[in-house]
Amino acid sequence: MVDQRVWDESQLRKYDFILKKIPRLPYDDPRVDEMIAANQPVVITGSRLVETAEKWDLDYFNENMGNDNCTVIYSRNHKFKFYDDSKASPDIKAEFTPTRKVSMKMSEFVRRLKEWKKGDERMYLQQVLNDTVGQQIVNDFLGFKWSWVNNIQKRNSWGSLTYNLLLIAMEGNVTPCHYDEQQNLFAQIRGLKRCILFPPEQFDCLYPYPVYHPHDRQSQVDFDRPDYTRFPKLKDLRGQEAIVGPGDVLYIPNYWWHHIEALMRGGYTISVNFWYKVGRTGKVAYPLKGYQKVAIMRNVEKMLVEVLQDHNEVGPLLRSLVVGRYTE
Ligand code: FUM
Ligand code: FE
Repeated sequence: MVDQRVWDESQLRKYDFILKKIPRLPYDDPRVDEMIAANQPVVITGSRLVETAEKWDLDYFNENMGNDNCTVIYSRNHKFKFYDDSKASPDIKAEFTPTRKVSMKMSEFVRRLKEWKKGDERMYLQQVLNDTVGQQIVNDFLGFKWSWVNNIQKRNSWGSLTYNLLLIAMEGNVTPCHYDEQQNLFAQIRGLKRCILFPPEQFDCLYPYPVYHPHDRQSQVDFDRPDYTRFPKLKDLRGQEAIVGPGDVLYIPNYWWHHIEALMRGGYTISVNFWYKVGRTGKVAYPLKGYQKVAIMRNVEKMLVEVLQDHNEVGPLLRSLVVGRYTE
């Protein structure tokens, strides 16, 4: 069998950050449980979580996905920065290269992907696995090792599984740095992805957009052209990275920043996310944990945006509240 984990440095995009490796451990190593319990990322090998999906490829989806529409994101460059349409408003500047969402059948996506040529907009299929998929895929889905993930969920008092997202990326596609408010078991099925993670404690270094912005939870920093003048704390950024391949499951703890790239010249990739609601946040103890701080800040910010009804008023109000009173 061809080793599907072969890659070289030239397939990775270049960044300035100092990165160490995310530990890679077999699923039955007791350290896996310890790391998950401590909200630390880990690449878990050998779990066979999505073994029934090993055969998934474009032809299989073409035949078995069913006739319902899928969501495909188009981008004019390699970056697919999430944009929440429900937060769009005329006074919020759109990004220079916004992405656009298109609904199409899987067969149409596969056709367009096969006909794709350099210079065309890139595509990224991001579709929730729901009960409209064909019977074969339902069977594969039911064959996932649910007992294994259910155990992790129970042991760590996570909330319910919200949904599974199927991701089919073109080689070189990038999901820019952002955090999610859920626990994520990220299962890689086909091809290689590089995942760069930063802990929630690095909130200050990554300058997220305000909560009312359509790019809420995304970093304002462009990793391809980092602006150290505008974002000076960026120089303190320290992360961890892993290259995940078929059979690997990466645990991305809630509120951890992640930047994910399908390796260049690696062919298309297939992944499935298992997203879980966060469980009890535990007693507040000092020093506050990074994720607790982010959760509190988000709530305060949301409340201010709501009561002030004009997001331009939030900064000045916070400044009068804090400067000279809560500052030294
Ligand atoms: O592109 C990706 O695989 C992104 C995944 C995520 O943000 O969870
Ligand atoms: Fe994410």
